[in-house]
Amino acid sequence: MNLGILISGRGSNMDAILAAIEEGRLDASVPIVVSNRAGVAGLDRARARGVPTLVLAHREHPSREAFDEALVEALRRHDVDTVALAGFDRLLSPVLLSAFPGRVVNIHPALLPSFPGLHAQQQALDYGVRITGATVHLVDERMDHGPILAQAAVPVLDDDTEDTLAERILAEEHRIYPLALALLAHDEVRIEGRRVRGGVPTA
Ligand code: GRF
Repeated sequence: MNLGILISGRGSNMDAILAAIEEGRLDASVPIVVSNRAGVAGLDRARARGVPTLVLAHREHPSREAFDEALVEALRRHDVDTVALAGFDRLLSPVLLSAFPGRVVNIHPALLPSFPGLHAQQQALDYGVRITGATVHLVDERMDHGPILAQAAVPVLDDDTEDTLAERILAEEHRIYPLALALLAHDEVRIEGRRVRGGVPTA
């Protein structure tokens, strides 16, 4: 599997994926990490692991579609067959999704379909749920939406703040993202409507 990773910031999920590859837990290579923002920590982390990086600023493109065309061109140039969004903060258009059908994956810090969008951890606290978690899913045109590959549950504690909850969820994100990608790498996933056969069980 030739994985292109798209980031916008810190890049800790990207780093967890790269670590899993280095440690032989994920059979994949990462020919390119693309960020839509210059100067973010994730770019340094990728370089520190010897992975080539590219900045493609969405602001320099006239439309979402034009930006996605540039992304597709860059990813194809690096023989990418699977795209992992790792804290990537742009909504993708059909231009990119149709270029990699069924092969664009995202991670979200909540148990989807609960709490899509920004500040998912604070949304969970505000709602008062006792369990939240992390979800890895295939991407469709809606934000934080699409067939679910893996989920992990995280309890909400009485004294949690957005930060403490986010930290515990992030540890689970780092654990399940490589597991979910390994399913795709080994072609173990079959999509039947909304359901994915061969997903990773909740833990
Ligand atoms: C993660 O919580 C991820 O679930 C969400 O954005 C955050 C990115 O963090 N989509 P990082 O850049 O991977 O550290």
